[in-house]
This record gives sequence, structure tokens and C-alpha cells, in this order.
Amino acid sequence: MAAATILIVDDDLDTLKLVGMMLERKGYEIIAAANGRKALELVAKSLPDLILLDIMMPEMDGYEVARRLRSNPKTEFIPIIMFTAKSQIDDRIEGLEAGADAYITKPTQPRELFAQVKAMLKRTPMRSAGPQVPAAEAGMVFGVLAAKGGVGTSTLAINLAIAMRQKTKESVILSDYRPGQGTVSLDLGSGNTDGMLRLLRGEEEITKRSLEGILLTHGSGIKTLLSSPDSVDAKYVTEVDKFLEITEQLRYLASHIVLDLGAALSPLASAVVHKCDHVVLCLEPSPNNVKQTRSLFQALVKEGVGEGRITSVLINRMRISIQLSWKQTEEQFEYPIATVFTPIPEMAYQASRTNTPLVLQDSTSLTSQQFQKLASILL
Ligand SMILES: Nc1ncnc2c1ncn2[C@@H]1O[C@H](COP(=O)(O)OP(=O)(O)O)[C@@H](O)[C@H]1O
Ligand SMILES: [Mg+2]
Repeated sequence: MAAATILIVDDDLDTLKLVGMMLERKGYEIIAAANGRKALELVAKSLPDLILLDIMMPEMDGYEVARRLRSNPKTEFIPIIMFTAKSQIDDRIEGLEAGADAYITKPTQPRELFAQVKAMLKRTPMRSAGPQVPAAEAGMVFGVLAAKGGVGTSTLAINLAIAMRQKTKESVILSDYRPGQGTVSLDLGSGNTDGMLRLLRGEEEITKRSLEGILLTHGSGIKTLLSSPDSVDAKYVTEVDKFLEITEQLRYLASHIVLDLGAALSPLASAVVHKCDHVVLCLEPSPNNVKQTRSLFQALVKEGVGEGRITSVLINRMRISIQLSWKQTEEQFEYPIATVFTPIPEMAYQASRTNTPLVLQDSTSLTSQQFQKLASILL
């Protein structure tokens, strides 16, 4: 487990040194800033697990630093202990109102400070003691997309997420951005799509904390945030900003995030692809689909998703010899195809019927190897 990172902000260098050394001896990773501006820069760069914040500093005081951290969704969840010589009640209240979680008066007893730090980190388990998330790092977001439905996009998203988990042992989140068409929940037999609905209806704020509460753990070890399969919920596809915010938050909750973006460049998909570090394009070996997917590829590039960020994969769902081969498909597609999936209609049907994803059925099967290969290409 990585040590928790603590940022100490104080214009008094002696305090920085003393407190820093004390906490370092306790095994924490310490970063330090001597003023508010520098503190904000460091937070943006390395997202500490906890901040010890002095109040009286030249230029920007601790109150202002706290307010800015609290108003930014990327930093709003970081616990702040105000660390100050001020002891007036009014100052404490102002500190708490600015967003501090706790208050310690200088001069502090090292034991009291350590106890506070420990207690605070314990209350935010995902960051400090979370199983796999390297606290400071943002995860990689992979969007899975096709030109039309029925190609195997959702099947790929599910099995890719699990293969990534198996390969890296790191945290993986699978989410489908398909309100009203959430077949992933049906395939996984995970009936709970309420959390996503609450976020989209605005009944629950989209924060790192709320998402932590909503994510469900699947038997494979991945976490899921799934859309409703009920057609009436398709109306939430217009909640583009909410999906963008969800994506931003999910990034800090796992090392790898796989998003089923469904079919075509809807306003939702075309907004979310910009948040994706990588896009996986699924195509089937039929001339029309190849044409359609080529134009999707070009549209993505035109929108600013660099070719290097797109990986195309060919999914064969049927065993018919009149289909295009890998080579023929690639020729007509005019872009490289990274890997190919072989048809397994019975297994795919069983996977869905028994809610057991393909890669969990038999980890040595050809199909499992194909998903593992794709995970290796992408990671
Ligand atoms: N390699 C494959 N071989 C055979 N059938 C497949 C394969 N991959 C997926 N399928 C099946 O194809 C159908 C569509 O898959 P799905 O993942 O729901 O597609 P999409 O999300 O693109 O609509 C499902 O019935 C699924 O079980
Ligand atoms: Mg689908």
C-alpha cells in the first residue's frame, strides 16, 4: 500500500521542517509549500490525501486556499486540518466555514497532531488505505464505442474491464453511459441501477464521496456504475454535463475506467470521448459496417481525438464464410485493426443467460485470451 501523502502549507519554515520531519518518521509522504499559491499548484499536481494548512500567510491566506480547494470538484474531498496560531473562536468558525475539517492550535503537541492526522485519514479510506488506488494519480479512462448497436460493444466493455482487473490487480470501474439501454446491468445480473438514476436526476450530487457510496462491487472484483435498462430512462441521455462530471470523478476512484458509450456519436458520446484517454472502436466484418465505422473514425479524428488514441477491434459474431476476413476488413477500413474476436454465439448466449462474463467462464479459452490480449495492447 502506498503511503498517504500529506501537504503541509506554512510560511514559517521551522514549522514546515518540524512537522514535516515528525510525520515523515511516522511513514507519510510529505510535500510542502510556503505560501497559498504554491499550495494550490502542488495540490493540482499531486492530489495529496490530507492538507495541513496555516491560516496567516502573505499573499493568499489559508481561508482563501481552503475555499478554492472546496469549490473545485477535483479537490473538494481532500481533508483539511487548519494549523494555526490563531485561537479565537471567530477564527475557528471562519476556518470551518471556509472548508476546514478540523482545527489545531499552535503550538501543537506532536502527539495530538499525529492523532488528528491518523483519525482524519482513517475517515477517508478510499484515498489512504484504499485497496489499489494510488492516491495521487488519476486513472485512465477507456471509452468503448461502435457505429451501430449489436456489434458486441457492451460485451467487449464488460470483459475488457474484467481482463484489465485480472491483468493488473488494480482497481477497475465499469460504467455504461446508456440510460434507458443499460444492457450491461442485465448481462451482469446486477439489478441495481438506482445510483446512476439518482445522479442523473440530480437527487444526489456528483462528488467523489457520493460515487464511492454508489459504486457496486462485482464478483470479479471490478466496481460498477450501471445505467437503467428501462426505455423510459432514455430521457437522461440529455444530461451530458452530469455524465462529464461523473467521468471526471470516476477518474480518481480507480486506476482504470471502462465506459460503454454505445453506438454512434450522440451528443453524449461526442462530449465524453474528449474525457477519454483512449477510445476502443468496435466493428463487424460487413462492408456496410466497415464503411460506417470508417466515417466514425474520421469524425473522432476531426473532433480532436488523435489517431493514436483510437484502437479498432474486429468482432466476429457469426460463423459465416462470406464475411470479410481480418485483412479484407482492414483494407476497406483503411486503418489498422489491433485485434480480432472469434465468433462464439453459444458461449456469448450462455454468458448473458447465466450472468457470467466470458472471461470468467474459462480463463484459458481462446476468447479469454483475446480479451487479455486487448487489455495488454491498451495498458
Ligand atoms: N464474439 C461473439 N460471438 C458471438 N456473439 C457475440 C460475441 N460478442 C457478443 N456477442 C453477442 O452479440 C450480441 C450483441 O452484443 P452486445 O455486446 O450487447 O452488443 P452492443 O453493445 O454492440 O449492442 C449479444 O447477444 C452478445 O451475446
Ligand atoms: Mg450495448
